[in-house]
Amino acid sequence: MKILMVCLGNICRSPLAHGIMQKLSDDNNLHWEIDSAGTSGWHNGNAPDSRSIKVAKDNGIDISRQSSRIITKADLDYYDLIFAMDKSNYKNILKLCSSSSQEDRVQLFLPFAGITERDEVPDPYYDGGFDYVYDLVYRACEGILVKVG
Ligand code: 4NP
Repeated sequence: MKILMVCLGNICRSPLAHGIMQKLSDDNNLHWEIDSAGTSGWHNGNAPDSRSIKVAKDNGIDISRQSSRIITKADLDYYDLIFAMDKSNYKNILKLCSSSSQEDRVQLFLPFAGITERDEVPDPYYDGGFDYVYDLVYRACEGILVKVG
């Protein structure tokens, strides 16, 4: 299984989803290939936000070596599942698609994972809330493990 986690900047939310999903996959000997990307490209080449690095580290996951990149059209064919952290990113990923088979791989992260309390991962870049985002993303990754694993 190849999974791409996508948010706007690829420095806050999707790096957490990437690190958590990779850890759950590894812990369950699943050999899934996980990556993350952003729809904006604003932070291309940057490490994750220090607040995401810290909350991941506090929970035993090292995401410090990740590097932000923009999503590409090639990703739409390469990955089996492409998870958008919010509806704006979902719409923007769909705009890149050129076939229904590509569109079918693009999913809104929380509803697909069976999380019912909300359908978007809130953007913590300006408002904070990294502990809540970590918890929400962790539960969603567990949901994906159960659904797809
Ligand atoms: P992310 O958060 O999409 O979770 O990585 C953001 C990061 C940067 C910006 C916005 C959201 N920004 O405006 O630069």
